[in-house]
Amino acid sequence: MAGGGVAGAYHGTGAAPGAGVGCARVRRRLATPSPGAGDPGRRLELGLWPAVGPGRRRLGPGVWRTVRAGGGPGRFPAMSPALLLEARSLVHTYPGRDTPALDGLSLGVERGERLALLGPNGAGKTTLLLHLNGSLRPQDGEIRLAGEPQGYDRAALRRWRSRVQLVLQEPDDQLFAASVSEDVAFGPLNQGLDEREAEERVARVLEEFSLSALADQPPHLLSHGQRKRVAMAGAVAMRPDILILDEPTAGLDASGQMEMLAALERLNDDGTTLVFSTHDVDLAHAWADRVALFAQGRILALGPAQSVLRDPALLRAAALQPPMVVRLTHALQAAGWRDPETTPARDVEALARRLTPESLVVR
Ligand SMILES: Nc1ncnc2c1ncn2[C@@H]1O[C@H](COP(=O)(O)OP(=O)(O)OP(=O)(O)O)[C@@H](O)[C@H]1O
Ligand SMILES: [Mg+2]
Repeated sequence: MAGGGVAGAYHGTGAAPGAGVGCARVRRRLATPSPGAGDPGRRLELGLWPAVGPGRRRLGPGVWRTVRAGGGPGRFPAMSPALLLEARSLVHTYPGRDTPALDGLSLGVERGERLALLGPNGAGKTTLLLHLNGSLRPQDGEIRLAGEPQGYDRAALRRWRSRVQLVLQEPDDQLFAASVSEDVAFGPLNQGLDEREAEERVARVLEEFSLSALADQPPHLLSHGQRKRVAMAGAVAMRPDILILDEPTAGLDASGQMEMLAALERLNDDGTTLVFSTHDVDLAHAWADRVALFAQGRILALGPAQSVLRDPALLRAAALQPPMVVRLTHALQAAGWRDPETTPARDVEALARRLTPESLVVR
């Protein structure tokens, strides 16, 4: 997805770049973006940070309290038990296109889950993700956060983005500051944290993402994988309830993928809800709680990863190959192997552990 195209179609806050930033250092940085870096104005428009107001406030060492825009935790009504974020009957047709990118699409995100979006190129995954934090506005339908329909005025978008952060597929659409630490600090400062609080938070996030040694480096001099980690660190520094990621492991080497997943796992264990698009069916099968299969701007199926990604008809309809572990399991079973467990293996390593001498005796 080209960031420029999205910016063209954006119906956003109209917030000026740096609006509400209470720190002269950041204002200076915004005036002198690093060479080859993304546009801070677009970063704000895309909701990569919320503006000043809501966020997590540090009450003391290790003690944080979530502060909602509009004055405290009562801002949002009591939630339905599980659904945290909902897309309802979204329609979006990009200018100059005959067919809709989203064609009446509905999807509910459950609190605390890991939800993977899968489907062929052009199916509408990125377009949906851009709707989930208000970066794109549907021509029909609505987004609900904690049961409440979301508005698109400036204040509503601020509240929305304090809870839902988006990490774009291309880090260069997101990074702009002169150094890694300044880039990661921008969001917390924009949230209203003072410099000391922001510095503490940045140090912690950089450590979480193994970026401390690169803190003073200009992002444009880093590798693609490192820039991707910086982009994610910037979103995580906002302490969102929901982290939305467009192809978070694409373009990363094996160890980069493992590190990315370990970081996401820690966030999820701490209660952050994760929604991510991917073309990696093995990853979705092994790691997601639920998957949504996309085709032509619609959702073909939404359900537990181990059910949806084992259904040959659904996989065919979404133009996907079954996960490797499913194919191997079928091949082994065809050769007479009996799975000693009742639930299917999630990944090849788990399957390998089941290949005991007894199970391999062909009957
Ligand atoms: N800025 C844009 N302007 C016009 N059309 C667009 C724009 N962005 C996306 N589209 C179109 O919208 C449809 C959905 O695109 P989208 O990027 O959401 O798909 P995707 O599922 O994310 O694909 P991929 O797997 O390739 O990332 C495609 O037909 C695409 O060409
Ligand atoms: Mg995409």
